[in-house]
Amino acid sequence: MKRYDQLRNTAEEFGQEHLFQYWESLTDDQRSLLLDDIERIDFKTLAALVADKHADAAAIDESKIEAPPVYPHKPADEQLDLYAEALKTGKSMLADGKVGTMVVAGGQGTRLGFDAPKGTFPISPIKNKTLFQLFAENIQNVNRTYGCKMPWYVMTSSATDAPTRTFFEEHNYFGLDRDDVYFFQQGVMPAVDDAGKIILTEPHQVALSPNGHGGSLLALRDKGILEDAKRRGVDVISYFQVDNPLVSPADPLFIGLHQLAESQMSSIAVPKADDLEKVGNFVSIDGKIQIIEYSDLPDTLAHARNPDGSRKLDAGSVAIHLINRAYAEDLTGGTGVSLPWHRARKKVEYYDGASSTTVQPDAPNATKFEMFIFDAVPLANKSIILEQLREDCFSPVKNAEGVDSPATSRRDMIRRAAKWLEACNVNVPRDGNKDPQATIEISPLRAISAMQLRQSLDASLKINPNDEMYLD
Ligand code: UD1
Repeated sequence: MKRYDQLRNTAEEFGQEHLFQYWESLTDDQRSLLLDDIERIDFKTLAALVADKHADAAAIDESKIEAPPVYPHKPADEQLDLYAEALKTGKSMLADGKVGTMVVAGGQGTRLGFDAPKGTFPISPIKNKTLFQLFAENIQNVNRTYGCKMPWYVMTSSATDAPTRTFFEEHNYFGLDRDDVYFFQQGVMPAVDDAGKIILTEPHQVALSPNGHGGSLLALRDKGILEDAKRRGVDVISYFQVDNPLVSPADPLFIGLHQLAESQMSSIAVPKADDLEKVGNFVSIDGKIQIIEYSDLPDTLAHARNPDGSRKLDAGSVAIHLINRAYAEDLTGGTGVSLPWHRARKKVEYYDGASSTTVQPDAPNATKFEMFIFDAVPLANKSIILEQLREDCFSPVKNAEGVDSPATSRRDMIRRAAKWLEACNVNVPRDGNKDPQATIEISPLRAISAMQLRQSLDASLKINPNDEMYLD
C-alpha cells in the first residue's frame, strides 16, 4: 500500500490523479502494472514541459548560422602528417582497450513497417544477415585486428529489450563474448493530451514511449554503463544508430582525430544528397558546432548557396559520434542531464471510459517529448567533425520503400563491396549506369576496409555479370 499511497500523492500533487480513475475496477496484477508505469514517470520534468510550452529547443537565429569547420575526407597536403598521426593514435587506443561502442536500438521500426526490433532486420544482400549480426561481426574483426575486447553497449527500450536479448541468446551473441555485450534500457516519457493530462491507453496502462536517444546519456549513468566503461579503462564511447549497415563501429582515423583535437564529443558528416535531405545539419553558431534537425532548419538556410554556387550548409549528420566517458559523466553528474526537450504532435491511442475501448485517433491528439543525443554537441568544450564519403559509411534502413529503404541499403552494400574489390585490382563488371552487375557481399569477419581485404584476396578472383559472390 505504501507504494500506492506514495505514487497517488505524487500524481495528485502534479494534477495527474486521473491516472487512478479506474483503480477500483483493476485486478491485483493490473494494479501492479499501473503502479510500475507510474513509477517510471518523471512528473517534475513533465510538469515543467507542460507549463512552459517554449521550454524546448531554442529558436534559431538565422543570421548567426555559419557552415562549421570540417576535417575533410581527403586530407590537404598540410594535414597529411596530422592524419597519419591520428590513424596511429586511433589504432593504439583500440589496442589499449580505450574504446567502447554503443548502438541506440530503442526505436520501433514504424516507418519500416517491421514489427520487431530493427536490429533483427535481415539486410545483407546474399546471406541476409541482420543488422545486429553485421555490427557484431564488425566488432569481432576489430577485436581480432587490434587484439582488444571492445565492449558493446546496446541501448534498448521497453518495446525492444526482451526481443533483442532473446535474439542475441538465440544466435549465441554472433560469436562475441557475452560478457562484452551489455544491454540497457532507456527511460520513458508519457504522452499528454492538449490539457497536459497524461494519456492512459488502458485502464491500467500509461501511454509511455522512449524518451529519445538523448535519454541514452542518463541511461548510461543509471544502468551502470559508465561504471562498467571506467572499470574496463574505456575512455571513448563510439556511438551509432541501429539502422545503418555501413557504419564502422570503431574507426581508427576518427578516434585519433578526436583524441588529438582533445574533443569531448565528435561527429561524422557526409555531404548532403539534396538541400532538403532528412538528416541533421551541422552548423556553427558563435563558434560552437551544433546540429539542427532537418525539420527545424528554415528553408532559406537549407537552400542557401556560397558565392561559388555550392551548398552553404552541406554537412549532413549520419548520427555517428564519439563521446568521451568523462564528458558523459560530467553531463550526468548532477541531478540530471540538461538537454533540451523536443516535442512532437502524434496520434496516440487512448482509453475511452464511456465506451470502455481503446480508441485509435485519426489526427494527432497528443504531444510526445524526446531528447536528442546531438544536443550534447554544443555543450562540449571542444567538438570536431570528420567528413566521410556517403558511399563508405551511410545507407540507413528507415522506410519500407524509396529512399533509405532495404533496397537502397542493399544496393549500397553491393556498391561498397565492388569499390573495395576494385581497390584491390579485381575487375567488377558494371552496367551502363556504372552499377555492379554482380551481387557481392563481403563478410565483416573477412574485411572491414579495402585495405584489409587486400591482405587476404586471391589475385585470380574473377567476377562475371550475374554472379553471386560471398567473400567470407
Ligand atoms: C536520425 C537523426 C538525424 C540523422 C539521421 C541519420 C534524430 C532526431 N535525427 O533521424 O539527425 O541525420 O538519423 O540517419 O535522431 N532511438 C532510440 N530511442 C529513441 C529514439 C530513437 O534508441 O527514443 C534510436 C533508433 O532506434 C534509431 C535512432 O535512434 O537507431 C534514430 O532514430 P530515428 O527516430 O529513426 O531518427 P531519424 O529520423 O531517422
